[in-house]
Amino acid sequence: MGLITVIDHSGEYADIVGTLSASRPDAEIHPVPNAEGLGFGEGAPYVVVVAPSTPPSVGLDVARAAEAADSHTSVVIVARSVDTELMRSAMKAGVSDVVAASDPAADVARAITDAYDQAQTRHESAMRGQAQAAPASRGYVVTVFSTKGGVGKSVLATNLGTALAKCLSLKTALVDLDLQFGDCGIMLGLVPQRTITDVAASIERLDEDLLRGHMTHHDSGLDVLLAPVRPEDAETVTTGRISRILELLREMYDVVVIDTAATLDEVVLTALDRSDDVYAMTMMDVASIKNMRISVQKLAQLGYANGLVHVVLNRADSKVWLQPHEVERAVGSEIFARIPSDRVVPRSVNKGTPVVIDEPKSDVARAILGIAKSVAASVGEESAHVS
Ligand SMILES: Nc1ncnc2c1ncn2[C@@H]1O[C@H](COP(=O)(O)OP(=O)(O)OP(=O)(O)O)[C@@H](O)[C@H]1O
Ligand SMILES: [Mg+2]
Repeated sequence: MGLITVIDHSGEYADIVGTLSASRPDAEIHPVPNAEGLGFGEGAPYVVVVAPSTPPSVGLDVARAAEAADSHTSVVIVARSVDTELMRSAMKAGVSDVVAASDPAADVARAITDAYDQAQTRHESAMRGQAQAAPASRGYVVTVFSTKGGVGKSVLATNLGTALAKCLSLKTALVDLDLQFGDCGIMLGLVPQRTITDVAASIERLDEDLLRGHMTHHDSGLDVLLAPVRPEDAETVTTGRISRILELLREMYDVVVIDTAATLDEVVLTALDRSDDVYAMTMMDVASIKNMRISVQKLAQLGYANGLVHVVLNRADSKVWLQPHEVERAVGSEIFARIPSDRVVPRSVNKGTPVVIDEPKSDVARAILGIAKSVAASVGEESAHVS
């Protein structure tokens, strides 16, 4: 059973929260007039909901205190009005979600239930950690990102995953979080029998065995959690469920590579929140560069530290008028790696065999192996810190 504490002077919002969180029948609603006396120990609430009658700043303070105490508690602010300033402060303070009281009830409900699921995962993994009396191993999470389509995200994600598993012998999972149009399976020549949709549907029973049984194994050694087969199934894969899946995968694998859709929505933010490295992909045309500049700025505004985001220039030798140094200036960030343009890529995509296996001596494969080696070096550093 998990507690949802509702901070509300008026005392009326608790009933609303009760209705909105009805899909979590084990949740108990506990109304309080203010944040005084809130504790963040083992019995701390899963979610603190800050009602519209309470100033949002109370929620920011609660989130900071929860984070300082390394608590599982998630905070959801339901505000009378939401502006960019509030969103930014909330992100920085570690608030799970901010919604407006006037938002559709389904959105407010989803914010609360996602926050609940995230806290439950944290609580359970803290309990497991204590039971094992040893720090849980923590895999390295890498997300491939771009708000522009067709820039080569899935080509990099599939080849990076394959290179890490096959060439660098790391226990690697690839998660296709392009929930509507994911094509990692096609690029790897895999037939989807079980996908992330099936894991999301069994979230109440989620454990390592269940998750392992839903991964599709590639000959390279890479385990893939495939995207839903039907785009409409994407809806069932909520961010709360994604968080739980990613947390568990990170305990099971040395590296988790995440492919994303061409957007900066909540699903992508959920992946970014858990990432140790983000590879932001761009090509050299003006539209892609403009898009990347805006994305890099947006990521910085959202509080993602500079060192986290690495710009990867794909099709770096395309015959267009921009030079790589001009790209760096335009994007406002150094280029971390360059992948050349080569016919071997579309050929390998059509064959369903990654370039790093199909054409391992090509410049494209070498460039991707270089990125994989830098991930492997970071994985080595992480595990050195843990042991
Ligand atoms: N370095 C390259 N050289 C030649 N062709 C490439 C290269 N990188 C990608 N491509 C081509 O571009 C196409 C699009 O790549 P990919 O599907 O990886 O992009 P994406 O960013 O994942 O797109 P979406 O956002 O639609 O998922 C691929 O099918 C591939 O043929
Ligand atoms: Mg893609």
